[in-house]
Amino acid sequence: MARVSLAAMIRLRLMRLVATATIFVIASTAVTSCTKKEEKAEEPQAVVEEVAALPPAPYEFPEMKIPEDNPQNTLKALLGAQLFFDPRLSVDGTRSCYSCHQNEHGNGGETPLAIGAKEKQLTRHSPVIWNTAYFDRFYWDGRADSLEAQAKGAWGGGNMGVGAENLENKTKQLSKINAYKVAFEKVFPEEGMTPDTVAKAIAAYERMTLVCDNTAYDRFAKGDDAALTDQQKQGWAIFMGKGQCVVCHAPPLFSSAMGVPEGVYYNVGIGTEGVAEEDVDIGRAAVTKQDADWAAFKVPSLRNVSKSAPYFHDGSVPTLEGAVRLMASGGIDNKNKSSLLADRGLVDGEIRALVAFLGALDCPRPLERPGLPK
Ligand code: HEC
Ligand code: HEC
Repeated sequence: MARVSLAAMIRLRLMRLVATATIFVIASTAVTSCTKKEEKAEEPQAVVEEVAALPPAPYEFPEMKIPEDNPQNTLKALLGAQLFFDPRLSVDGTRSCYSCHQNEHGNGGETPLAIGAKEKQLTRHSPVIWNTAYFDRFYWDGRADSLEAQAKGAWGGGNMGVGAENLENKTKQLSKINAYKVAFEKVFPEEGMTPDTVAKAIAAYERMTLVCDNTAYDRFAKGDDAALTDQQKQGWAIFMGKGQCVVCHAPPLFSSAMGVPEGVYYNVGIGTEGVAEEDVDIGRAAVTKQDADWAAFKVPSLRNVSKSAPYFHDGSVPTLEGAVRLMASGGIDNKNKSSLLADRGLVDGEIRALVAFLGALDCPRPLERPGLPK
């Protein structure tokens, strides 16, 4: 019960935020249209006023939900850290979870499409996984409903190539590493090392470590006015106002999925252009079988986005400026594009300000590689 009401509360707060932001958009559009000549939002004074007119920047994260059958403890999370970084989990010893979620790439992937064990080309780009534990649905199409299920999916699927039916065998092999065997007996005294407890330990690691909540934006939102540059403040005002990015990328997680159990998915047109219709990645529709979800994808969080090129579910856009331009100009037209996305008529300086603002979402610390057992 407590969970339901928390989710409802968060949703309400989110709706209120979007409503306030929308009112702000309407108000600011009205202002700009009657003062056409002074439209340049470059003036520092104008920026100060615009930022002052915004609703307070939210920074409080929702409560993280911990599954009842996988309570958090530090030892479990530390064991999960080793597993996350250990390529011996993969079928050919070449891929750990970290291989596709690296610090150097904002904890997303380097290549446009991920390349799994045995150099198998996968169909999607590796997303940034910071704050992933605050969401209820995982993957670009939300097909996994827990971090535990996601970890088993990545391990048994093409990412690490083990095959769901071979996870038992693989686990037996890994339990020959004495330090793992001993640690699992300690952390999971009843079950020991099984595919499920491996997934549970990895999920516990993600819940403990993948929290990015002390960015320049968060410091600004908590009242440190000097945490953002003037250009970043201008970008924040555009993000919340004229650019209407907030409608889908709502702070503090910068995704709309916060507190929405099924997740939130939109078609913004990525991957629909220059491809035969039957070859389009239909995204969420593969899960729901609903036409309305055709080529709709999860709204990614924008935390660490400045470091995670290339962008989108297919990694099709190589630079952040390119991604921002595409979103601000209304995405890519197709038969199912979301009506929430339109050309916002931003000038170059405004695009650059948005890009500068997104830099304020850089996560302050990298993941640390633990020592692995011999
Ligand atoms: C070969 C590259 C690769 C490896 C190895 C890999 N991942 Fe990923 N990861 C991806 C891709 C690609 C996606 C998105 C796939 C999709 O949406 O269909 C993803 C998605 C995720 C997500 C969902 C994020 C979200 O917000 O929806 C999480 C969490 C994650 N991976 C964690 C892991 C863990 C844990 C492991 C190890 C068990 C792992 N990954 C191994 C490429 C990889
Ligand atoms: C209608 C909802 C919606 C609006 C409005 C919106 N976005 Fe997005 N955004 C998405 C979705 C959905 C994706 C993922 C699309 C995909 O990969 O297929 C995305 C992806 C992105 C990405 C790529 C992130 C990554 O990790 O690959 C960036 C950057 C981005 N949006 C910035 C913006 C900015 C800036 C604005 C405002 C100008 C904006 N968005 C407005 C829904 C939206």
